[in-house]
Amino acid sequence: MHHSFFFSTGRHSRAELHWITTCIQYQGGWQADGKGPSIWDTFCHKKGKVFGEQNGDVACNSYELWEKDLECIQLLGLTHYRLSLSWARLLPDGTTRHVSQKGVQYYNKVIDDLLACNVSPMVTLYHFDLPQALQDQGGWKSPSIATLFDSYAQFCFQTFGDRVKLWITINEPYVCAKLGHEDGVHAPGLKEPGIAAYVVGHNMLRAHAMAWHSYNSFYRPKQRGAVSLAINSDWVEPLHPDCAEDVAAAERYLAFTLGWFAWPVFVTGDYPEVMRSAIDAQSKKMGYSGGSRLPSFSKDEPAVLGTADFFALNYYTSRKVKPRGGCGQVLCVKSDQDAEEVLDPSWPICGVSWLAVVPHGLRKLLKYIKDTFNNPAVYITENGFSQVGPLEIEDDRRSEFYKDTIFEVAKAIGEDGVNVRGYFAWSLLDNFEWADGFSVRFGLFHVDFSDAKLSRAIYHSGREYAKIISKYKSAQSR
Ligand code: BGC
Repeated sequence: MHHSFFFSTGRHSRAELHWITTCIQYQGGWQADGKGPSIWDTFCHKKGKVFGEQNGDVACNSYELWEKDLECIQLLGLTHYRLSLSWARLLPDGTTRHVSQKGVQYYNKVIDDLLACNVSPMVTLYHFDLPQALQDQGGWKSPSIATLFDSYAQFCFQTFGDRVKLWITINEPYVCAKLGHEDGVHAPGLKEPGIAAYVVGHNMLRAHAMAWHSYNSFYRPKQRGAVSLAINSDWVEPLHPDCAEDVAAAERYLAFTLGWFAWPVFVTGDYPEVMRSAIDAQSKKMGYSGGSRLPSFSKDEPAVLGTADFFALNYYTSRKVKPRGGCGQVLCVKSDQDAEEVLDPSWPICGVSWLAVVPHGLRKLLKYIKDTFNNPAVYITENGFSQVGPLEIEDDRRSEFYKDTIFEVAKAIGEDGVNVRGYFAWSLLDNFEWADGFSVRFGLFHVDFSDAKLSRAIYHSGREYAKIISKYKSAQSR
């Protein structure tokens, strides 16, 4: 029972175990009670964007079935639950000019119910679903989005911050910027390679920084919570560790994912030097004359450096890389990054195609974060294992995955001294997996999407996860 190690890690025994639900992925009720449309509503309703033309109109219908979710949360014995607010449910046109009281009531109830069950909420303000009204004004490409986000964030701190003590401003800015504005496979579906993603990422950092400063000045003194942004990153290794080009490719890969958002916030207040020089070199090569495609932070705005009270990491997979070589023919993030991913056959792909299962990559990434970002408190805000194709309710592989991963986290804590404070599995329920619709299942509870009641049933992995939590709790109380 090597896994019991996790529960006896002495001074580092603060890690706690938990979850997630999000706006469109769970809630449904896309037009309920005056909710405004979001960019994901618009995106799903266009042809050919989402697997099987599916959409998030109903999803798990957590808007109406929240009590059922709460039962699942209690069945697992969670101590924390991460949920995402839908901006357009609270502020239908994105601005505080019009507040939906029904939206406020819904989240008040969710938060109050969690607390009544001794479950602490971690609340994400932005999880991919911008109000469509703001997209119509330029969305994340427009510099003015930062102050609009700050107003929304302040509205949420004001309304829920008496009870919510853990906040995430923006979930996965990398995914929003790149998949939404460069690849066009996420909402708003823009394909403006090599330019828009950097602008969007920049505005997301500005928005995050403004919201953090607002919290710090106006809400923290009374509310005493903590605020960060959730950064997704793979662990990455050079294909051949003794090949200098592969080592440099791995460094670039990390700089363009983790570093893009973590470096400005935790290290220098600016982007990693390796990222800027790679982008500028590529611009030069391509004869691009519009100045650096990577924007610069203005000294007249709230500083981005130091705007995280903890490190929030979403980790799913690991990669081996080498230079792409000969890739310089187009202007795009991939060619700037110049790192080609190579599959390692010993890292099995068990579900969705991008997810090679590498639990030990998480330990390495945690150690890297400790060493690079000055030993911050870390919450693993997402990590999970998907099923695709024939459904397995007795999903042993997912159970093993969680045990192996939590053991790696235990080693990161106990042997590497990483200051891990929490682990959130993705996800409580099967849900709307963005462009993959309902074809990819990450839940610890199965949801029967063909049944009008959307009944929830625990997977084997859910039962096993509940056992891990219960052991953890009894170790804590000893
Ligand atoms: C996102 C989730 C998503 C998960 C699995 C993360 O990118 O935050 O919303 O469902 O990964 O793809």
